[in-house]
Amino acid sequence: MADKKSSDRFKDEDMTASMSNEDLEISNNNADSKTIPTIIDDLDIQDVPGIGPTTAKKLRDGGILTVMDLAVASSEELSVEINSSKESAAAFIIAAQQLLRDSNLLDKEFVTADVALEKRKSLLRCTTGSKALDKLLLGGIETQAITEFYGEFGSGKSQICHTLCVMAHQPVEMGGFGSGTIYIDTEGTFRPERVDQIAASRGLDPSSVLKSIAVCKVYNSSHLELIIKDLGKYITDYKSRLVVIDSIISLHRAEFAGRGTLADRQQRLNTMLHKIIRLAEIYNISVVITNQVQSSPDTFFGDPTKAAGGNVLGHASTYRIYLRKSGENRTAKMIDSPYHPYSDTKFTVTEKGADDLEEETSSKRGK
Ligand code: GTP
Ligand code: MG
Repeated sequence: MADKKSSDRFKDEDMTASMSNEDLEISNNNADSKTIPTIIDDLDIQDVPGIGPTTAKKLRDGGILTVMDLAVASSEELSVEINSSKESAAAFIIAAQQLLRDSNLLDKEFVTADVALEKRKSLLRCTTGSKALDKLLLGGIETQAITEFYGEFGSGKSQICHTLCVMAHQPVEMGGFGSGTIYIDTEGTFRPERVDQIAASRGLDPSSVLKSIAVCKVYNSSHLELIIKDLGKYITDYKSRLVVIDSIISLHRAEFAGRGTLADRQQRLNTMLHKIIRLAEIYNISVVITNQVQSSPDTFFGDPTKAAGGNVLGHASTYRIYLRKSGENRTAKMIDSPYHPYSDTKFTVTEKGADDLEEETSSKRGK
């Protein structure tokens, strides 16, 4: 059924064990769950129509081990990996996606808008740790979406990411995902001590939070591209519903510096981002990316800073939030979203990570 709860996608035994009772109930309440193969592990790559033992071997040799891997592949890459035409690679990918649809692991191609609305209501959201930021995001960061935080140095991007890892581990009824996090650190700024501090100051168990975060320190753009290529496997291995990439652009920006290399950089960013979008949708995860700012000299009025990465990044992000420092406080502004109002809010960074301002907390209570 297209309107099944999004949490159904991960009916992995261990995953459900780490999730809340509420989530388990949701999974168990589906009448049709016994009659359809909803467990990802039950699907074999050879269940995909048109894939026999020979193609399956080629796929496995090319690192495509599961139906999910195939469903998120790009036809260009796959055709190279299995030495086939682009058309047959695309046909395999479409067949894998169709199999996931038939197994209720992926949404139907067409659903009526009322069903789509019900489905959106049941999307999981994870709190940022700040009520004000959650309100700006209409409930927190969403699954099946890329949420981008951009802003200048010290604006709080990495602090939000650290706080999100802590919150994502909290059970669903506490506003989390009840899951692990994959943290891709391209700037060398991930600090487990900070996670420990944020968890402890929120009265949570730091050691279980720390165990739930899989950190990957990435050194160059090719390494990042490789990690993204294999991300599906890591998402399953680490039972993650949140993937953080802090930052998405720094390595590509540093390595492709000259004007002559810009097109190549944008092309590589584009390939990576498209893969991330497919992963977010097919694995039903939330992706948070951070981005830097650049000055825009052609701006005559207003703020001359804009997000780096150009249109490629702008189009890929589902939600874009611009962070600015204003003294001790931070301002977060919703810049781009398919449904959020264009609004802003204030938050701060404390030992609890991303946090509400004292006065904001009290004034909002009166509203
Ligand atoms: P770049 O990665 O340099 O682009 O910046 P960023 O936006 O990621 O900055 P980040 O999130 O790391 O924010 C750094 C700021 O957070 C510092 O300047 C501090 O104001 C604040 N901060 C960091 N750690 C702590 C802490 O332990 N306690 C408090 N109260 N504030 C902190
Ligand atoms: Mg940072």
